[in-house]
Amino acid sequence: MIYKLFIRPVFFLFNPELAHDIIFFIISKFTFIYPLFRLIFSPKENWEEIEINGVKFRNRLGIAAGLDKEAVAIRFFDAVGFSHIEIGTVTPLPQPGNDKPRLFRLKKDKALINRMGFNNSGADAINQNILKAKKHLKKGFAVGVNIGKNKATPLETAYSDYEICLGKLYDAADYFTVNISSPNTEGLRELQGENYLDELLGKISEKNKSLAAEKNIRQKSIFLKIAPDLTPEEIEMIYILASKHELTGIAATNTTITRNNLIENTEESGGLSGKPLKGMSDNILKQLKELNDGNTFHKMYLIGSGGVFTKTDYRDKLICGADLVQVYTGYIYEGNRIIKNIFK
Ligand SMILES: Cc1cc2nc3c(=O)[nH]c(=O)nc-3n(C[C@H](O)[C@H](O)[C@H](O)COP(=O)(O)O)c2cc1C
Repeated sequence: MIYKLFIRPVFFLFNPELAHDIIFFIISKFTFIYPLFRLIFSPKENWEEIEINGVKFRNRLGIAAGLDKEAVAIRFFDAVGFSHIEIGTVTPLPQPGNDKPRLFRLKKDKALINRMGFNNSGADAINQNILKAKKHLKKGFAVGVNIGKNKATPLETAYSDYEICLGKLYDAADYFTVNISSPNTEGLRELQGENYLDELLGKISEKNKSLAAEKNIRQKSIFLKIAPDLTPEEIEMIYILASKHELTGIAATNTTITRNNLIENTEESGGLSGKPLKGMSDNILKQLKELNDGNTFHKMYLIGSGGVFTKTDYRDKLICGADLVQVYTGYIYEGNRIIKNIFK
């Protein structure tokens, strides 16, 4: 209530990226308030805990990639009760992303459009931030790292960027998500094509095996994040390749480049997230679940993201087959209350 009545109206006066930066500055500095947040927001008990490949999640709800790109507020999201956060997208080298403005609110649609373009301070700096935060995290909270390629890296050698990120962040990450579905890095989505993807997933799996052997630890879970704008045939092909290369799972979905059923008129390019995305993402999850039901070789864990604002939206994702559910846009509109609302 406080967020919706007082905090959100003030922050919605600022342009969205500035509002984000101010909030993140505050929450990353005022660590002494975290115990209070833990008391107010965090559910008293664990809900539907799950363990995936040795990593424990105290509930099924997490923060999607893109909200904490720099890994500066991990402890905050642990304190307010989420079970995980996906940091990134992280690229090997720092890069500024696209020109501003690049983030837009569609309030009537409860949506956002972004064309951030993987702005981040690079794998080394983000690795340090995660390692620092991890010393303070409570049990059942996991840190995923979403990895991508630098803008300047050609598609033909994109795999090397993913390998570099795996190598640099292997100790820090509890799991990885391979992002090949952002609409804001030119050509990136072409990596979802059969030839590129087969090679990319093969190299990533090999790198995962060799890093685990070198460090004498269990292999890390690897998820593949896909776009909502794929055809059922493309999704099936991607599922088969992910299963063939024994990935841990699929994250469905990233933002859409479609502009269907919007109330507000917009000419802005970029990925659309929030309420208008929910139906599309749910349908893809359903298809992935069906593919899982027919798969006796290597089933995929599923992460559902896209348009979760309420308990019903959250339950829908689980019913459609999600093992974990992530929020971004819903969190911007609802604030921390979203956690209590979902778990009440
Ligand atoms: C501003 C913004 C930045 C994002 N950045 C990333 C990113 O860097 N990597 C990624 O995989 N997804 C990114 N996403 C997509 C989200 O992780 C999520 O998959 C998508 O927004 C759908 O969930 P939602 O409807 O709850 O927002 C971003 C989304 C937004 C709104």
